[in-house]
Amino acid sequence: MEKIQLMNVQRQHEQHAAEYEKAVIDVLRSGLYIGGPNVTVFEEEFAAYAGAKYGISCGNGTDAIVLALRALNIGQGDEVITVSFTFFATAEGIAAVGATPVFVDVDEKTYCMDVSQIEAKITNRTKAIMPVHIYGHSADMDSINAIAKKYNLFVITDCAQSAGTEYNGSRANTLGDVSCFSFFPTKNLGCDGDGGMVVTNNENIARACRSYKVHGSGADGLHTLKEQYAARGEQLPQNMPVGANKYYNYLIGYNSRLDALQAALLRVKLTYLDEFVAGRRKNADLYNEALKDTEYGKPYEAPYTKHSYYIYALQHDNAQTIMERLQKMGVPCGTYYPVPLHLQGAFASLGYKEGDFPVTEKLAKTTFAIPVFPELSEEERNYIVNALKEAIKD
Ligand SMILES: Cc1ncc(COP(=O)(O)O)c(C=O)c1O
Repeated sequence: MEKIQLMNVQRQHEQHAAEYEKAVIDVLRSGLYIGGPNVTVFEEEFAAYAGAKYGISCGNGTDAIVLALRALNIGQGDEVITVSFTFFATAEGIAAVGATPVFVDVDEKTYCMDVSQIEAKITNRTKAIMPVHIYGHSADMDSINAIAKKYNLFVITDCAQSAGTEYNGSRANTLGDVSCFSFFPTKNLGCDGDGGMVVTNNENIARACRSYKVHGSGADGLHTLKEQYAARGEQLPQNMPVGANKYYNYLIGYNSRLDALQAALLRVKLTYLDEFVAGRRKNADLYNEALKDTEYGKPYEAPYTKHSYYIYALQHDNAQTIMERLQKMGVPCGTYYPVPLHLQGAFASLGYKEGDFPVTEKLAKTTFAIPVFPELSEEERNYIVNALKEAIKD
């Protein structure tokens, strides 16, 4: 048996290599490397898959978060309520636009935003709630949407880990006003490099994202600038140069594009995404069954969600020792994520301290991920299960 990997993207490539390689070669031969039909068609196809009207591709999932926040005019002086039990980029995006991430704890079963803590954190500076569908388990969207409606806040969902996840029977129900996906290679839908996408049903948000990702240029930039002036009750500057091409810049934006090569690959991979998710779910079910009589805490799947198992994490009070034992037995494992965001050095100025979010802090110490990628073989899965049973022995 070859060395088991925690996430094995090479095996995914091998499975449909001929199709992926043809897609890439076609782009190489086309000379269309930036933009072009693969990008626009993938945006449409992915938005349709996610259950949204508009898809705006970009360079990565972190940029998708930044673009979404900028499109909603969230910046200096604003607050966004989010979780600390997530990858750094969630709150980094909020801070990158000048706003302040305001953390709440997560639910001890779902590991997603504890909705009972949101209202206490709302101030007159709060502009949005940013739940994360962590590991591929949907946050409690009905409760979050209801709070957002009551306080007139936007919902920006970090869907980086949740391509294929459902809430109350549909993928569209996992979305908020705007949702941010990552196509990092190991993700449920991953490209062979970096990639991301914003999806929304709101035309103004879509147009703003479309412009911010290309230096604030073009007709979408002018449209967004007009909206921004109108919202402040101001007139557009007199004699402003106006044109619809890319050399007319209306907003201070970014250069954040999805390459045509990645879009072409993603178009092929999207046709297999349901299969990939089914493979992850099958592995998760088999693990749950094989480990049911052990003391490992198994992942929870709330009745309202269809988990996509980007990560399958077990829980145990001795997680650190168990991980060392597993690694010695050749079973890769890891903690996602060992340092909660409220304790990260980058957020020290926010003044949080150990003990502020007990569930998050406990999960950071007691959870660990094991391989769940869809191409995992039965032999590997059995080896992992046996190693897990061995590692738990005194
Ligand atoms: C929860 C979460 N948010 C945001 C991101 C950022 O995505 P990317 O790495 O594509 O910038 C990731 C992925 O790495 C993630 O897991």
